[in-house]
Amino acid sequence: MTVVRPDFTIEQNWEDYSEEQHAIWRLLFERQQRLLLGRACREYLEGLSRLGVAADGIPDFRRLSDVLDRATGWRIVAVPGLVPDDVFFAHLARRQFPSTCFIRRRDQLDYLEEPDVFHDICGHVPLLINPIFADYLQAYGEGGLKALGLGHLQRLARLYWYTVEFGLIATRDGLRIYGSGILSSAGESVYCLEDPRPRRLRFDLRRIMRTGYRIDDFQQLYFVIDDFQQLFDATRPDFAPIYREIAVLPDLDPTDHLDQDREFVPWSKKNWATHVSAAQV
Ligand SMILES: [Fe+2]
Repeated sequence: MTVVRPDFTIEQNWEDYSEEQHAIWRLLFERQQRLLLGRACREYLEGLSRLGVAADGIPDFRRLSDVLDRATGWRIVAVPGLVPDDVFFAHLARRQFPSTCFIRRRDQLDYLEEPDVFHDICGHVPLLINPIFADYLQAYGEGGLKALGLGHLQRLARLYWYTVEFGLIATRDGLRIYGSGILSSAGESVYCLEDPRPRRLRFDLRRIMRTGYRIDDFQQLYFVIDDFQQLFDATRPDFAPIYREIAVLPDLDPTDHLDQDREFVPWSKKNWATHVSAAQV
């Protein structure tokens, strides 16, 4: 029987994974690798390789944590599934990333309602080896504990959604992915960059905190950062005055347009059309 500790952590019991479960990891990993070269940001791909996260099977959290700990002081802790918000934030604030242990079934390769070990480890963990992103996620955890006390959790959760889960980053080579919800999804890793339908706006903290999101389909709206330092700097100020400032403004739907929105346009319309048709071949 799985023993759940008071901080909601459990043992990963890596030795208990079956050959079929490792085979599902391999399938998911190899498919994403093909898609993510040229689409994921450089820091993510470097993180994968430095951590040794590879196609050979579900990683052992103890081994991953040792490498991560030496690099940025983060460790991975196993949890049974989604944990209460205060527990989640407390782990992040202590530089502990809570990861689920189970892996999806073969008939769930393309869609899963809750995070599994592939999403958590392959999607989230590689960026934690980047010092600035590592500091950002810790600051987010600390901000989460404060937001809970202030009653503004929903606004902070939107920041997590539009950055950690579904963020895009502008690079000299073009738009790239750093959000783990995209990095662990075959369909969305292509759609978010190459489909003309979703909007891509420049990062705007207040705009993000006012904007709802959907969890049952590809996003209709993405926010683009210039670099991870911008993200970290945005979380440095005390959010309490910002929460008060936006509390009087209406919430926004992902499809809403505001005059102040700054669109990210990586290619001309002409190039865009060429790019999309090339991607469909
Ligand atoms: Fe996630």
